[in-house]
Amino acid sequence: MKKIFIANWKMNLNQKAISSYLRKIKTTDFSSAEIVLAPAFPYLSLVFTALKKNKIKIAAQDVASTKEGAFTGEVSAKMLKDFGVKMVLIGHSERRHYFHEGDDLINEKVKQTLENGLTPILCIGETLAEKVQGQRSTILNQQLRQALKNITKDNLKKIIIAYEPVWAIGTGNVVTEMELDEAFRVIKRTMIGLLGNDFFEKNTVFVYGGSVDEKNIVAFKKIPYLQGFLIGGASLTVEKFKAIIQA
Ligand code: PGA
Repeated sequence: MKKIFIANWKMNLNQKAISSYLRKIKTTDFSSAEIVLAPAFPYLSLVFTALKKNKIKIAAQDVASTKEGAFTGEVSAKMLKDFGVKMVLIGHSERRHYFHEGDDLINEKVKQTLENGLTPILCIGETLAEKVQGQRSTILNQQLRQALKNITKDNLKKIIIAYEPVWAIGTGNVVTEMELDEAFRVIKRTMIGLLGNDFFEKNTVFVYGGSVDEKNIVAFKKIPYLQGFLIGGASLTVEKFKAIIQA
């Protein structure tokens, strides 16, 4: 399977910077990797139009938890689909912490995304305090179970799970291989409980995010179960993002 590289631009870049980024990324040969770009909502159309004939996929950074109607400021999964979006980031720690998104809301967002045929990239991860208190396993198991409540097995197979320890996001700190192993074991156990053994091995995509850059990515390459990366800061310039993929 090709490794997947998801660029989470967060609330960064503007029309001019994105146009220039797209011009450069479009002409690069990434046949050995799957590339996903997650721009802010106003730029979805720009990215969609520019990438129409390209294999690069588009992800949204958020989605409404409801289908449609009087929800000022919200963007539905159906609208995202209309603009060529294939994936949606859900449960990112910045949304959990700054916007107080709880597990029930995250669960609804996962459902809306799946109902519209899009792939949720479900982000889970412990805070520094939780890590220090040895709660990593408990937190990951809890976040996963809550987010995936009442979702059919068929839909569960389509989910990408991003392990993003909160203390590693934007801090320059990355997980050790041992920490990643522990996270993967918990996620695997929980997903096998929900899906069954065979389905997990065949379907669940596991990616890591948190201060990934072109240097530290080299150490992650040998980890067999890691299928990709969610990259924030280092995805903001096309040169850095390309360097990560090429590394
Ligand atoms: P970072 O962000 O690479 O800047 O740490 C990752 C993320 O928040 O998805």
